[in-house]
Amino acid sequence: MGKQQNNTGGIDRRSFLKRTALAGAAMCIVPTLERVNAAERTITGKSERASSMASISKQRTLGSGNAAFTVSAMGFGCMGLNYHRSEHPDEQTAIRLVHEAIDRGVTLFDTAESYGPFTNERLIGKALKSYTHKVNVTTKFGHKYVNGVQVKTEEDSSPANIRKVCENSLRSLGVESIAMFYQHRSDPNTSIETVAETVAQLIKEGKVQHFGLCEVNADTIRRAHAICPITAIQSEYHLMHRTVEDSVLPLCRELGIGFVPYSPINRGFLGGLINEYTQFSPNDNRQTLPRFQPEAIRKNLRIVEVLNSFGRTRGYTPAQIALAWLMHKGDFIVPIPGTTKLSHLEENLRAANITFTADEMNELETAVSAIPVTGSRYDALQESKVQN
Ligand SMILES: NC(=O)c1ccc[n+]([C@@H]2O[C@H](COP(=O)([O-])OP(=O)(O)OC[C@H]3O[C@@H](n4cnc5c(N)ncnc54)[C@H](OP(=O)(O)O)[C@@H]3O)[C@@H](O)[C@H]2O)c1
Repeated sequence: MGKQQNNTGGIDRRSFLKRTALAGAAMCIVPTLERVNAAERTITGKSERASSMASISKQRTLGSGNAAFTVSAMGFGCMGLNYHRSEHPDEQTAIRLVHEAIDRGVTLFDTAESYGPFTNERLIGKALKSYTHKVNVTTKFGHKYVNGVQVKTEEDSSPANIRKVCENSLRSLGVESIAMFYQHRSDPNTSIETVAETVAQLIKEGKVQHFGLCEVNADTIRRAHAICPITAIQSEYHLMHRTVEDSVLPLCRELGIGFVPYSPINRGFLGGLINEYTQFSPNDNRQTLPRFQPEAIRKNLRIVEVLNSFGRTRGYTPAQIALAWLMHKGDFIVPIPGTTKLSHLEENLRAANITFTADEMNELETAVSAIPVTGSRYDALQESKVQN
């Protein structure tokens, strides 16, 4: 039989089959080779940074003076690892992801008593065991629990409760001192002065290192800061929610307070993987949020399209554009995106190296602002708990 020539680019059939077999084998061994390389890096002590692995080496300082706290320029929001998101990895996988983040230079991990509740702190405590000398975990107090069940209509920042949460958090996190203790939501029954005095006392006792507040207005920040210097305000901030630009961010700049934008990818929406058909599981709080109802999602996708087209010609994903935009809004800003996936962790960390010119920032903001945001970020009860 003569040599068979078919659509193989002019090579004979036997060579073609040999080459495709080799290509198939190569595809199988590449992951193995990567593991061998990783092992070699460990054995030879060669820095992981020398590989193509995404990492973050930039740092930023939250707060100033005695309240200064230097951390990786991007942190890791731990909530979604086992709370409020649809897919939760098993414990070992979640712990591995936290270790991957540490390997990539992340030194700021964020949790709260209320995530779980209680279980997120315990998970992070396990994950950070034997790493607490090189990374920091911040947590939050202030929600009210009776027999482990949240009383959603009330908050509790009484000194007794702050102290109780502090002791529990120290135990769950396995640390001697909490790197930063935030008030999660303000408590109408406890003045902010009393809260600040209580945290100042915990700082004196060495149980807490830094003080933070979430979702508070400029007046509350000034009053609290006068008693116990604040290291950071943690509030929602991203391209679809910019309220803090009115008075909170200018005040942070004025007083030398850091800012930690939470839900920096708008709970995943700005990552472009959510559409009106996305099903959130019952444990995922997005199913209850007005902005995540199908009609709102459908309308708001125009904003993601802006990020897509802005990023496409520059080689960036929409999540990277969202994070890089935040980081360009001030060097006192440290976003804490959450993820359950190594690929997203790497993608997000790479955003710290993106630079925009002032014209590009302007172009992006103008295009996004031209599209009205549909649906409020919170339901009425949750909205009543944030200060504007
Ligand atoms: N102080 C407060 O009141 C408050 C409130 C809410 C949150 N927080 C803090 O902020 C942290 C982050 O908030 P968040 O989880 O609500 O919102 P987020 O960080 O804006 O978004 C997280 C979601 O985005 C997805 N995601 C991450 N990277 C992505 C990428 N590159 N491309 C596409 N999708 C991506 C994740 O899914 P995958 O798992 O699939 O990646 C996850 O569902 C929390 O962990 C918590 O520490 C604080």
